[in-house]
Amino acid sequence: MRDAAPQTIYLKDYTPFGYLIDGVELTFRLHPTATRVISRIRFRPNPDATDHRFFLHGEGLTLISAAIDGQTVTPDRTDTGLTCPVPDAPFVWEAEVEISPSTNTALEGLYMSNGMYCTQCEAEGFRNITYYPDRPDVMAPFSVRIEGDEKILLSNGNPGNSGTGFAEWHDPWPKPAYLFALVAGDLVNHPDTFTTRSGKKVELNIWVRPGDEGKCAFGMQALRDSMTWDEEVYGREYDLDIFNIVAVDDFNMGAMENKGLNIFNSSAVLASPETSTDTNFERIEAIIAHEYFHNWTGNRITCRDWFQLCLKEGLTVYRDSQFTSDMRSAPVKRISDVIALRARQFREDNGPLAHPVRPDSFVEINNFYTATVYEKGAELIGILKTLVGDNAYAKALDLYFNRHDGEACTIEDWLQAFEDATGRDLSQFKRWYEQAGTPRLSVADDFKDGTYTLNFEQKTPATPGQDIKDARVIPIAVGLIGPNGDEVHETTVLEMTGARQSFRFDGLSAKPIPSILRGFSAPVILEREITNAERAFLLAHDTDPFNKWEAGLSLARDGLIAMIHDGAAPDSAYLDAVQTMARDDSLDPAFRALALGLPSQDDLAQALYDQGHTPDPQAIWEALETLRHAKAQAMQDLAPRLYAQYQVTGPYQPNAEQSGARSLANAALAMITRLDGGAQAQRQYDNASNMTQQLAAWSCLLQAGKGEAATAAFYDQWQHDRLVIDKWFMLQILNADPAKTADTAARLTKHPDFTMKNPNRFRSTLGGLTASSAGFHHASGKGYELLANWLIRLDPLNPQTTARMCSAFETWKRYDSDRQVHIKAQLERILDTPSLSRDTTEMVTRILA
Ligand code: ARG
Ligand code: ZN
Repeated sequence: MRDAAPQTIYLKDYTPFGYLIDGVELTFRLHPTATRVISRIRFRPNPDATDHRFFLHGEGLTLISAAIDGQTVTPDRTDTGLTCPVPDAPFVWEAEVEISPSTNTALEGLYMSNGMYCTQCEAEGFRNITYYPDRPDVMAPFSVRIEGDEKILLSNGNPGNSGTGFAEWHDPWPKPAYLFALVAGDLVNHPDTFTTRSGKKVELNIWVRPGDEGKCAFGMQALRDSMTWDEEVYGREYDLDIFNIVAVDDFNMGAMENKGLNIFNSSAVLASPETSTDTNFERIEAIIAHEYFHNWTGNRITCRDWFQLCLKEGLTVYRDSQFTSDMRSAPVKRISDVIALRARQFREDNGPLAHPVRPDSFVEINNFYTATVYEKGAELIGILKTLVGDNAYAKALDLYFNRHDGEACTIEDWLQAFEDATGRDLSQFKRWYEQAGTPRLSVADDFKDGTYTLNFEQKTPATPGQDIKDARVIPIAVGLIGPNGDEVHETTVLEMTGARQSFRFDGLSAKPIPSILRGFSAPVILEREITNAERAFLLAHDTDPFNKWEAGLSLARDGLIAMIHDGAAPDSAYLDAVQTMARDDSLDPAFRALALGLPSQDDLAQALYDQGHTPDPQAIWEALETLRHAKAQAMQDLAPRLYAQYQVTGPYQPNAEQSGARSLANAALAMITRLDGGAQAQRQYDNASNMTQQLAAWSCLLQAGKGEAATAAFYDQWQHDRLVIDKWFMLQILNADPAKTADTAARLTKHPDFTMKNPNRFRSTLGGLTASSAGFHHASGKGYELLANWLIRLDPLNPQTTARMCSAFETWKRYDSDRQVHIKAQLERILDTPSLSRDTTEMVTRILA
């Protein structure tokens, strides 16, 4: 019972809209089930367009009336919009529609969350609000009047008149409909002000439900820091009298950069030491910055069409990571970003969902808010900056902002600004945007008569729809270290443009140990012949923190692969080297905590698969357990020393220094727990005064099988706090024995606090299942079945979240035939569900292809 195949949209088919808009006036008469939206839109023919068909998007709208230049019209309507004859001259379109926010469970368009009205319009949600050309290249100034009984009535731009039961807003900056926002509710604010460097005073607010006022101060400081940073680093000032942020409990994504009215998933803005971990604080700071930075990279300059999504997202992720590096530790941020990139983007790039950073076709654009568009998109900005240099990057950005302010742009516009600013030909660089797949960069070396040569070769495996890959330009940052541990050649960037290329270093007295791809200078998979002794040497001597960490990680990975595949014992070279590293008090504790980490189960599965083996998720999990145990034993003296040494005294602060100390102490606690059975963890749990300490201790107890009392106590303590209870759901699943993961998740879906209507709760539970690799891939197939059951249930309510979670199945071809049979059966069961959404249909079809 599959519906007709949904329509594929192609980049090559882009044509401009036939009309320009001089102004939009909207009136909202709010009502939970019968909100009226009255629109008055001034259109005029677009002189640059050849196609003057008048089509307005609109979905799920009840049309009450429509008129052109005051004359009632009866448009031709379909499921996706309407059309009608219009004058060949400027005209005014007026319409009134009715919508039902309280029954909108998809959380796109205007919906209700805990009694409050809010919107999410990116990418194509505005068409659920009224009839409109809902495409990013149609930009207009908006005036909005909201009529409702709620205390607070907000929209984009600057406030206008307001009184009992109404408020008016005017946004002078032309914007596409996806940046429209409206919020109405009995909210309270955490206010502040900011004066821009040209002396403009801006009112700032974070709006929350009563009771959450105490969790706004950190987000507000992050906002102020972001505003200052964008002035100092990119020369960009804020451009309205007011900047509002609203926290919403039911939200599909992290947050949204609507002009002057950012809407946030409450998990991405509310913070307090008692309820948020250090990781939460850092994420909140980054997301506030990300959305704020969109004001220039996204709003002032937006995307011509959704194929160009990386134009705003890649650049804005790059900017927020620069911000975090400046606010905190740059090496720690880089290592964390690469861990996430490999876990999500490399995984995507090496499976059936691989797509270019700028895709050339899609069925449902919501399925392309991916790690490839965002995180790989950000890596491409980093490559470009490395290739042209910091000064030229700044010059090109200024040109881009000056040239395109107020426009809807393409990747071609972006690259043109760089070509014009630098005189450089970027046609080869552009392949990074067009070709999917992660390049494999292999390297062999050679030393003769004082000359050291590195011979590189690049190859990118085929991806869906792209068999042949051309060589890309790859900046390879390299340093050389002499046999005594001194750096004999400082970091230099080799620019590889060919499929094969060699680089020489002269005048060396002995064969050096190379440190290749320093700082992870390009998103590639480096394949090199290297001995464990050389890796241990790099872990000890590399001056590049990223490669120092990478040396330890690869040592661990190879040891684990030998354990899994050949039944080897834990590698003593790794245990010795990592212990020496951990002992070194001159190293940042946060770095040491990262370097004590092991590759994820999923990384190991991919590594085994790449080496021609079929990964066994249970064997991977067991090897990790064995190695963790061996590490705890090897460090039985060191771990308690580190634990004591890095206890933070004094009031909690979510800064890099304190959180680094806590992360190292908690890494030590995990080792201690393996030997003391949980005594120390219980003490930490009982005395914890912040969520970082409480959660780390509870995780240790769960892993030790001693978590029962803490699990009950944690629930009693936090049952009133949704965001903390999300953690309560997730951690029980993440820390379950793989044989029990699916049963734990299934049991929790029956808990009275479980609801599939809240994306955060759904993701904590079913996302906990999919993140527990061995548990999800349990040989019985029960993990797959449980996920499929819930995806089938969620799809009619919330297609967007359902579709995103299908990616849990994207690695299915790695596994043995029994598992493949189980997964395929579940995917087909999903696909055979009557009226399956376009979102989920596209995802499952691509995964199965
Ligand atoms: N632009 C938002 C951000 O990156 C994300 C919006 C995602 N929306 C969606 N429907 N996929 O901050
Ligand atoms: Zn974004």
